[in-house]
Amino acid sequence: MSSLTGPPPLTTNPLVKIRADIAVERRSPVPFPPGETRFSMARTQRFAKDPLPVLLEAYARYGPVFTLRILHGNTVFVLGPEANHHVLVSHARNFSYREGYMSDLFPLLGDGLLTIDGDFHRRSRRIMLPAFHKEQIAASIGAIEEEVELAIAPWRDGARIDLYEWTRELALRIAMRALFGLRNESAPQAAHDFEQALGFYAQDYLLQALRGPGTPWARMRAARARLDVLIHGEIERRRATGERGTDILSLLLDAHDEDGATLSRTHIRDEVMTLLFAGHDTTTSTISFMFHELARQPHHATAPMDRLLDETLRMYPPAWIGPRRSIEAFELCGQRVPGGVAVNYCSWASHHLPDVWEDPARFDPDRFAPGRREAIPKGAYVPFGGGSRTCIGMRFAQAEVDVIARRILGSWRLQLDPGYHLSIRQMPTISPRNGMPMTVRAA
Ligand code: HEM
Repeated sequence: MSSLTGPPPLTTNPLVKIRADIAVERRSPVPFPPGETRFSMARTQRFAKDPLPVLLEAYARYGPVFTLRILHGNTVFVLGPEANHHVLVSHARNFSYREGYMSDLFPLLGDGLLTIDGDFHRRSRRIMLPAFHKEQIAASIGAIEEEVELAIAPWRDGARIDLYEWTRELALRIAMRALFGLRNESAPQAAHDFEQALGFYAQDYLLQALRGPGTPWARMRAARARLDVLIHGEIERRRATGERGTDILSLLLDAHDEDGATLSRTHIRDEVMTLLFAGHDTTTSTISFMFHELARQPHHATAPMDRLLDETLRMYPPAWIGPRRSIEAFELCGQRVPGGVAVNYCSWASHHLPDVWEDPARFDPDRFAPGRREAIPKGAYVPFGGGSRTCIGMRFAQAEVDVIARRILGSWRLQLDPGYHLSIRQMPTISPRNGMPMTVRAA
């Protein structure tokens, strides 16, 4: 049996990428859509710190398709139902992940589902899909419940916790157990290593470009190396012992498609790293934002869990931006967009458009009540992306959040510190910048 062959490695040299962007921009025969196309460090900084208002202001001024120059390069943003449907579904083939800013994740993730395209992506995804079937997820519920019980056991009335940290470690334990079949004592260290690796993406753009000892890049690579030891160690152990379970790693080790192609050792490492990355930070943020809103408006705690989750993901979609690169020039909402340029859809901004959502800044789970839910336009709500690259872990995430949130709500109320102000960072998923310090109260 042969292994699937991946694409050639990507450059991680920021200067090479910048040069290529500038060359494409200069050569483009099609002008960029209207927007703010002059270099501005102030705009770049503002976007890095708080992108949502920047995008909403540009939408109000220029409409659903506009250009912003962020750092050195023009980026086209496409917002709203029609744009989301175009990029994710009807014209998805015209947009590359690997050539877009997703490639920034390559130094950490390698060639996993998030950084590959075309046939290699299609075949990899087909090999991995059985690991996310309904039955497989149902089989994980018991393990998720056990991990939640262990994590919640020390809670006492009046105790102070950082809900963000608490959930991060729990979500990583769950991911490691569901992915590796491990009740892993190294989860706190792995959580720390992930935090360190992802911290790279929360740095100022200029700091991200630095190389050499002591730089954010060096710290990210060191954290990656420690995570690699863990993942490769487990792959080797399973290969040597033949040990298998119902976890996803077991499926990947033995998986093959209809042509008999399997996944190489490096490919499995890259997919496992991708799943660990995509699968713990997103859930952590979702739980944190949900309980932030419930602490502010406790009466929503009785809303059905699916509505609470859907509204949390509307206001705070953790995977807030979908970076792509256009392949050919295209037209959308009356604007021409060049080929070969950065094009981003953005669920966070799309979920806050005032002409699509009534009172978008208000947390209102009943938007998703039967009757109202059906009135949401196609493509308006995209927290899990869409089309053939919809989040592969969607059902797993929904089940996990459901178990964790129900367990907390069953026994506890979580109070925010008086004066707590939510500030959001992107690393690259959105999360509360200073954690979520809360006080536990018996329900
Ligand atoms: C609340 C939790 C989650 C949210 C909001 C979320 C959101 C998303 C979104 C928006 C995308 C598409 C990105 C794009 O279009 O650019 C995506 C892709 C992906 N997600 Fe999730 N995700 C969540 C949880 C998970 C979990 C638990 C896993 C794995 C166990 C996972 C694994 C992936 C993978 C591998 C992809 C890439 C799929 C592909 O391109 O074929 N996600 N996710």
